[in-house]
Amino acid sequence: PEVPVICIDGPTASGKGTLAVEVAHELGYHYLDSGSLYRVTGLATRRKGLEPEPAYEAEIAALAETLPLQFVKGKVLLDGEDVSDAIRTEAAGMDASRVSALPAVRAALLALQKRFRRLPGLVADGRDMGTVIFPEARLKVFLTASAAQRAERRHKQLISKGISTTLDSLRADLEARDARDSSRSVAPLKPAQDARRLDNSQLSIAQSVEQVLNWWQETQ
Ligand code: C5P
Repeated sequence: PEVPVICIDGPTASGKGTLAVEVAHELGYHYLDSGSLYRVTGLATRRKGLEPEPAYEAEIAALAETLPLQFVKGKVLLDGEDVSDAIRTEAAGMDASRVSALPAVRAALLALQKRFRRLPGLVADGRDMGTVIFPEARLKVFLTASAAQRAERRHKQLISKGISTTLDSLRADLEARDARDSSRSVAPLKPAQDARRLDNSQLSIAQSVEQVLNWWQETQ
């Protein structure tokens, strides 16, 4: 049988992760946080003493191809070490964005992402879930929110984790990251042709979840 997939793409800190987790929970589906794969690749790159730059594309792609990665109870393990917090910093996000612009790195992570598609279904969040990884998905959502909203949410999230930052620097970071993600030549951040757009600036999480579940019903 066809394994159903719901794609949720959008810019940094638009709430994709929260929405995708909730929708997956409601439907009893698996969840793919594709950004975490690029984040871990960025971390592994640094730990090898490499810069996340085109000059090291082949080495970084080789790392991505053989990442000793596990997902256990919502934690991300690299070589058995819990790196869940280490990959969530803004610096790690920026490194992720840099390695993710390298075509060989994206190719190296392709098969791994597709393997997440298992019964009874998958909710996948990222930048290119609907355009590149699961183009045949029946529901694609492109989630947006204003830059001010996104900076504020990310600020709260980091503060709650005890990581200190300022709103201004966060907003500058996320706008820089979006600009890079949108302008790269491979798999740029953009809505799939058949994506449904959802601006959640004025919506609660519950309202966004409900909208996606309604759209999902319509595709059945
Ligand atoms: O979603 P998250 O902020 O964790 O992603 C970190 C970075 O990984 C993004 O800024 C983007 O550059 C990259 N990414 C990507 N394709 C995806 C998911 C994330 O290029 N599907």
